[in-house]
Amino acid sequence: MTNFPENFLWGASSSAFQIEGGWDEDGKGMTVADYNSFKRSDKQADSKVASDFYHHWKEDIDLMKEMGMKAYRFSLSWARIIPDGDGEVNQKGIDFYNNVINYLLKQGIQPLVTLYHFDLPYALVEKYNGWECRDCAFAFERYARVCYKAFGDRVKYWQMINEQNLMIRVNNRMNIYTEDEWEADRMRAQMDYHMFLGHALAVNACHELVEGGKAAPAVSSTCTYPLTNKPEDVWAAKMNDWFKTNYCLEMHINGEYPGYYMRYLKERNIVPKMEEGDAAILKSAKIDYIALNYYRTLCASYLPADEEHPVGSRVFRGNEVDFDQYGYCRDEKNENLKASEYGAQIDPMGLRIVLNEYYRRYHLPLIITENGLGMADELTEDGRVHDDYRIDYLRGHIQAISDAIDDGVEMMGYCPWSVMDLLSSHQGFRKRYGFIYINRDDFNLKDLGRIKKDSFYWYQNVIKTNGENL
Ligand code: BG6
Repeated sequence: MTNFPENFLWGASSSAFQIEGGWDEDGKGMTVADYNSFKRSDKQADSKVASDFYHHWKEDIDLMKEMGMKAYRFSLSWARIIPDGDGEVNQKGIDFYNNVINYLLKQGIQPLVTLYHFDLPYALVEKYNGWECRDCAFAFERYARVCYKAFGDRVKYWQMINEQNLMIRVNNRMNIYTEDEWEADRMRAQMDYHMFLGHALAVNACHELVEGGKAAPAVSSTCTYPLTNKPEDVWAAKMNDWFKTNYCLEMHINGEYPGYYMRYLKERNIVPKMEEGDAAILKSAKIDYIALNYYRTLCASYLPADEEHPVGSRVFRGNEVDFDQYGYCRDEKNENLKASEYGAQIDPMGLRIVLNEYYRRYHLPLIITENGLGMADELTEDGRVHDDYRIDYLRGHIQAISDAIDDGVEMMGYCPWSVMDLLSSHQGFRKRYGFIYINRDDFNLKDLGRIKKDSFYWYQNVIKTNGENL
């Protein structure tokens, strides 16, 4: 017997710059994501064509319908809608998304829309250095309002920012290029703060403009295990989770930095500039649910205070509260888990832990907006893709969700990453996540054909049986 609620949102996920292509068509402006992908275009695919959803959207939505999807989580491209980020609205961008949304609804698929998924309009970088400037928060609010007014009569679930907690650590996504580490951390903290402000303004605007609108952050989520049962390792693991994820959720929910995080900002002397009235805005924005992206778990050991630890080009002292990558701890291999060929430690039980922890802590309904396995899939001679490894991965994680539901967690839905192959943020088209194979590789666009993988048929049956047949 299935325990998934009847209205459970079985779906799949994507993001604008990773699938759309048409990067400068019909007035779209360049984004930070385009800029970064063009810099690597001699090594891997870039965002110019991606999966070419911009020209295949109807056929792709037909395939989503065929798979049985009840929901589709995707992002809008800010620069398609407002090419320079805070200037004129591009009607052609609005038209494109209206077509997509209307056709999804016609096919019985609920649109779950993310406003911003790593692709800040590049014009805002040139004008403000992006999120470093407070004006960016208000530009985001304005963009959100444009979207709510254009689509809010049909779109009710809105994710504000994808993985703020992860994005803020990736320097090129934030346009942080200074060699000075303190300055980089100062900028990062200020940008993070302005994103929190923009997020809160957008949440409030959603409640003001969208009848029955529900707003959420989409957080990158994991849980960190201690390498041993030494209290120091346990502490290191906790710190890793607090500094990587929980501070962000606490900020969204309580409207203020948790104590441990404020302590870090003060000790590092990078407390962001805040203005009068901000606190009231941050406190007033009430999110309605939590969207979470989960791929793997981590494992950590404590770094003793009096030792130096080189990590990449940086040398850490053990007790440094360092926001950059590793906090108080070192990333370790977990010998109890298998890792994917790209190093992700696969752990369905970790998902059950995260779901329980979030629900017990924040008492909000949860939806998984990303979860999946990136592999170098192969199109075999029979014209198929036999991705049984992906089926195993997804089966384990759906079982974990079912267990979490039995534990009493309120689950709204599951949208694995990704509906179709798309531009991986690190490995172009080599690493694939989709249920639908896109017939192209990094440097050859081939026919951009759509081919249903074995996982497509498997997931179709999972949805049809509401999670009974795994
Ligand atoms: C998530 C992002 O963090 O991870 C996606 O929201 C991304 O945009 C996904 O594609 C997988 O990462 P990667 O690097 O394998 O594409």
